[in-house]
Amino acid sequence: MRAPLSLPSSTTTAGGLTFLLLLLDLIPTAATVKHENFKTCSQSGFCRRNRAYADHVLSPDNAGKWVSPYEIKENTIVLQNGILQADILKTVPGQSDKIILPLSINFQKSGAVRVTIDELKRQKRDIVLRGDSKARKERYNEAERWALVPDWDVRDDKVVYDNRKGQITLTFGPGLKYKAVVDVAPFSVKFERDGETHIVLNDRGLMNVEHWRAQPPAPEEGKEKSSEDLDGGWDETFGGNTDSKPRGPEAVAMDISFPGYEHVYGIPSHATSLSLKSTKGGEGEYQEPYRMYNADVFEYIVDSPMTLYGSIPFMQAHRKGSSVGVLWLNAAETWVDVVKEKAKRMIPMGGAKTDTKTHWVSESGLLDVWVFLGPDPQALYASYGALTGFTKMPPSFAIAYHQCRWNYVSQDDVKDVDRKFDKSEIPYDVIWLDIEYTDGKRYFTFDPLTFKDPKKMMKNIDKTDRKVVLIIDPHIKNTDNYPVVEELKSKDLAVKDKTGGIYEGWCWPGSSHWIDAFNPAAIEWWKSLFAFDKFKGTAKNTFIWNDMNEPSVFNGPETTMPKDNLHFSNWEHRDLHNINGMTFMNATHQALEARQLPKGGTQRSFVLTRAFFAGAQRLGAMWTGDNEAKWEHLQAALPMLLSQGIAGFPFSGADVGGFFGNPSKELLTRWYQSGIWYPFFRAHAHIDAKRREPYLLGDPYTGIIREAVRLRYALLPAWYTAFHRASQDGMPIIRPNFVVHPDDEDGFSIDDQIYIGDTGILVKPVVHEGVDKVNIHLGDGEVYYDYWSYKIYQGKGAKEYNAPLEKIPVLMRGGHIFPRRDRHRRSSGLMKHDPFTLVVVLDNKGNAEGYLYHDDGESFNYKAGHYVHRKLVFDSATKTLVSSNLHKDPVSAEPYNKEARPLQVEKILIVGISKAMKTASLAKGKKTKVMVTEEGKDRAVSVEYNAAADASSADTLLVKNTKLRIVSDWTVHLEKAEGDVAKDEL
Ligand code: NOJ
Repeated sequence: MRAPLSLPSSTTTAGGLTFLLLLLDLIPTAATVKHENFKTCSQSGFCRRNRAYADHVLSPDNAGKWVSPYEIKENTIVLQNGILQADILKTVPGQSDKIILPLSINFQKSGAVRVTIDELKRQKRDIVLRGDSKARKERYNEAERWALVPDWDVRDDKVVYDNRKGQITLTFGPGLKYKAVVDVAPFSVKFERDGETHIVLNDRGLMNVEHWRAQPPAPEEGKEKSSEDLDGGWDETFGGNTDSKPRGPEAVAMDISFPGYEHVYGIPSHATSLSLKSTKGGEGEYQEPYRMYNADVFEYIVDSPMTLYGSIPFMQAHRKGSSVGVLWLNAAETWVDVVKEKAKRMIPMGGAKTDTKTHWVSESGLLDVWVFLGPDPQALYASYGALTGFTKMPPSFAIAYHQCRWNYVSQDDVKDVDRKFDKSEIPYDVIWLDIEYTDGKRYFTFDPLTFKDPKKMMKNIDKTDRKVVLIIDPHIKNTDNYPVVEELKSKDLAVKDKTGGIYEGWCWPGSSHWIDAFNPAAIEWWKSLFAFDKFKGTAKNTFIWNDMNEPSVFNGPETTMPKDNLHFSNWEHRDLHNINGMTFMNATHQALEARQLPKGGTQRSFVLTRAFFAGAQRLGAMWTGDNEAKWEHLQAALPMLLSQGIAGFPFSGADVGGFFGNPSKELLTRWYQSGIWYPFFRAHAHIDAKRREPYLLGDPYTGIIREAVRLRYALLPAWYTAFHRASQDGMPIIRPNFVVHPDDEDGFSIDDQIYIGDTGILVKPVVHEGVDKVNIHLGDGEVYYDYWSYKIYQGKGAKEYNAPLEKIPVLMRGGHIFPRRDRHRRSSGLMKHDPFTLVVVLDNKGNAEGYLYHDDGESFNYKAGHYVHRKLVFDSATKTLVSSNLHKDPVSAEPYNKEARPLQVEKILIVGISKAMKTASLAKGKKTKVMVTEEGKDRAVSVEYNAAADASSADTLLVKNTKLRIVSDWTVHLEKAEGDVAKDEL
């Protein structure tokens, strides 16, 4: 983001008057995004060209006549060790020589397939760069090094090949379930599963690889320009910045169709609906393609395909009975058009009458597409995650509540906020310091006047097991007597400009240089800066926030770096722009993991990033950037976070309260009630916003927020268990209706209500002003209970729910068990020894199951098996609740089991008990004890039966003071009482 007109005082003092005047010139004055600062497709040469190409191909004049100029040269085809290789030839009108484009189709054991198209001339570096450029000549081929896990390549060497009449059929994947049908001329690939086509590449013939050519001379007067002289293919100027384009036009484009799929999701980050809209006009639809070009978009608008801070080019198509996906592995500026058409072919089983057709265009790099054939959301996320990595297990404090603002201005301020949270009995775990804590925006320093003794501050905060997050941005102040910039320069670790000199631009500190975290040496150096003896004032409880890493450059084109800047090994910035932010996050993540703790050893890192790309989920959390304190931004947050989960990066949040502006008390309260369900839960505010820590609101607001935050804390074990699942198989932490009910067609576009992990908890936060009722959509006929009153909701479809300000609409779906911790503490760290409550929510048949994952929440010991993982099953036939071990290697868990042995289940709350057993004796109070068996021993524990308030609510049974251990196998027998109740009475 950029500052508003009233600048933080240190900005004015730091750079002096000249800098202020220059900066003021760059600062937008409008209240919302300056559209003119960011390109539309028609202002981006390669997007304009490829859209025009598509319009031409698809024009009615060309119907049935267009032939895509790409074909496979048959005698080049080789299938070896799970890879099909061949040359694609591109015919260029008026040229006899064809352009050779090496094709490789890589089949993975998992069933995922990668289709990569390169360009021979560029591959061989047989091109001439324009100007004096030092840029690499090849198409960028290193996106996989950042986006994919190191051991991604597990080849399927059992692919069955069949080539007849210009059609190659490759049968592959587990159980040979999948087929890739490659048409030789024109080139296209259909992907089939279960005999149906799910994904087609170059279906509409929009594939386009802009081959290398020398810039044609300007046409003589009166003559037409050469067809090789592409519009916008050479120097291109926008907003006063000229891009020199040393390699000329080099875009890659492909159309990807999803026949029989009406809904596509993913390609975050956009402030838009979860189910993506069409981009070629129509009511309520967009005119512009979705853009992915990580950018610092000042006061972004909602309901827009405009680019935002991060990009994940992963798209999921879903229909009843099937989910498939694609990853467009390209880190350059990318645009995606989406259209929905009436299906022409036979509709597959469960398929919609609609086909979704997409068109992907990137400015440079390889044409590199991954295809995943599902068949369901779960399998899709697992295979995408196996490739790009799963979200890492965060330290446990990171999923609790974070308190941030720009800025807590001094050590005393921090102390005061900390104290006031405690006084008002609102738990929080982390206090954040924004850029003003530094000495004149020199990262790795503290302002000597306002943060005199940071070590003491860290210690103070640590007393309640709390943490401090410090912001560290990638721009390094270009100033004298600052060792960090001196080292950056002397070690030659900064990003270069197009001439190869050190790049200089403006950001918060004024004139700055940028660390080039693509460079392995830069990563090593960065790591050294975080050692406790180097970054003085930091401690074990200090963690890091990486902001402005798109990168944001105030005086750069579209507020970022020039595309012809150069990175490590002379790759142009253009090629890797969308990965840039992630490399910086990676360096910080590595640095935090490498810090040697004062008492020895290392700990899990926590890094928050603003910019990201596919794979960044392995490194920490993201947030959606500078939203506004407006209801529409509160509404926009959930679809955005759901989309993050779809695209494999579920540790996500939005600024609670809205960054810009001042929320009304109602908005702020509703935002907390919504924000407690964000995987990353942080309140944040702009420097000009009024203070709005929850204790300042006064009652009833403060009290309502206190209850909301306490609910987050109570459910932390459930959240942690959901994070664990995401870290294992990529299931989103918050899930939209279509993921939980993949056959519920009425719910495919629902994005304003969420399920939390496997808990069955269904939340529909109130996100509209003055509203005290919501309609919750039930995706199936299962029984649902109100979280608060156990009122029963049942029957597929919309159910009205009363939600006055003090109430969050939360239901519990029958059939699930989830853990809670019910003691109120000041921070999650102080809950470490607290007992658990298990909430057992019985389904229509009286059954339920669920999970508990637990570990020390800070070390890496869980990787060596030091964790507890339990499966909990309530069975109505035997009337038992059984806790069994899900640990993959129970022997390795033994040391931790000793440590965790004191942890107990204190209470078990069974909701809807009459679904499983007659409650007569319970109701009469005859039965007050039930039997538990633990480690071979039986004992009796008390129960308390609570009859339903009325016929529309559920009755509950509370098993009290169970003293069952979370580490051991046990059974609660509801039928085995202490002999005082006859069996048949139960
Ligand atoms: C931009 C970030 O988006 C915002 O959260 C932060 O407060 C400011 N930069 C200042 O660091």
